[in-house]
Amino acid sequence: MRARRALLYMPGDDEHKIHKATTLEVDCICMDLEDGVAQNRKAEARKTIQEALKSINFGGSERLVRLNPVSSRFIDEDLENIITSKPDGIVLPKVKNADQISWVDRKISAIESKSGWMPGSIIILAIIESALGIVNLKEIASSSSRLRGLIFGAEDLAADVGATRTEPGWEVLYSRSAVVTFAAAYGLQAIDLVNTDFLNLEKLRAESLQGVQMGFSGKQIIHPNQVKVVQESFTPTDDQVKNAQEVVAEYLSYQEKGRGAFVSDGKMIDAPIVKSALALLERAKAAGKITIVPKIDYLKLGEGL
Ligand code: COA
Ligand code: MG
Repeated sequence: MRARRALLYMPGDDEHKIHKATTLEVDCICMDLEDGVAQNRKAEARKTIQEALKSINFGGSERLVRLNPVSSRFIDEDLENIITSKPDGIVLPKVKNADQISWVDRKISAIESKSGWMPGSIIILAIIESALGIVNLKEIASSSSRLRGLIFGAEDLAADVGATRTEPGWEVLYSRSAVVTFAAAYGLQAIDLVNTDFLNLEKLRAESLQGVQMGFSGKQIIHPNQVKVVQESFTPTDDQVKNAQEVVAEYLSYQEKGRGAFVSDGKMIDAPIVKSALALLERAKAAGKITIVPKIDYLKLGEGL
């Protein structure tokens, strides 16, 4: 699993911001062709992104491009120009159904095959940001082997359902939860909503930790200020890692003694808690904090093993 703790957008026609992004050690750099670019600058943005993919060293950051929606008049030129420049992946906005992803998947496959690239080398992240997208999550989440993650777009979702955005965000909670749940069901990462208030890092930290608690693996961001807070929030702390390692070790030792549930620090531990500990260790591994996560096959819990 690749860490996608922070996914930083910048307008695709802004060469300076693309360069700047490569200095930030951010997990994902997402050069935008959609809403961050004016209608009359799409061609310019495609050219700038092509040039960037060709000539800039992105270091360890994943090189992503957000295309325009499949239903838009820009998609054919986006695909033609961007896929041939071989980004690591594309972010597909306003995904409403599985057919849209399958269609893009086939287009990418054709270019991969023509270019002699390994099939499936370019990944897809899908933004779910409409009522229909939520309703069709099951089909979308299982639509393509290129799909690595679902991204939740709160602003578009709210506009689509006629909701008014509030500070606590209860109006998008159902959809936010649905995205993280369907992602988990299909082995995908889930990337949480944007916080546009980029000067308020306290609020950003609180919202990031809420995303972690809900099960998101990362968060979309729009400003360099946000990289550190978000990547820190989505990285388990030393104490959490140590505690998870201890829980797993204790669990294994009690299993040998023939006990599934036991008490540690005054609290009951059993399989679901161990499963959460293993998930936390996977996140720590993706973030480069540890190298090994124990494999406990029978902990594919509740699956009759
Ligand atoms: N990626 C990379 N660099 C960025 C950046 C981003 N998203 N946002 C700002 N920067 C750079 C600026 O260019 C500036 O660089 P410099 O110090 O070398 O001149 C520095 O970070 C500080 O920027 P600041 O002056 O605070 O912000 P700004 O007024 O230039 O830009 C926004 C504010 C919101 C317009 C800008 O952050 C932005 O474009 N964000 C992304 C918007 C987007 O892509 N939206 C669509 C997806 S939701
Ligand atoms: Mg959007």
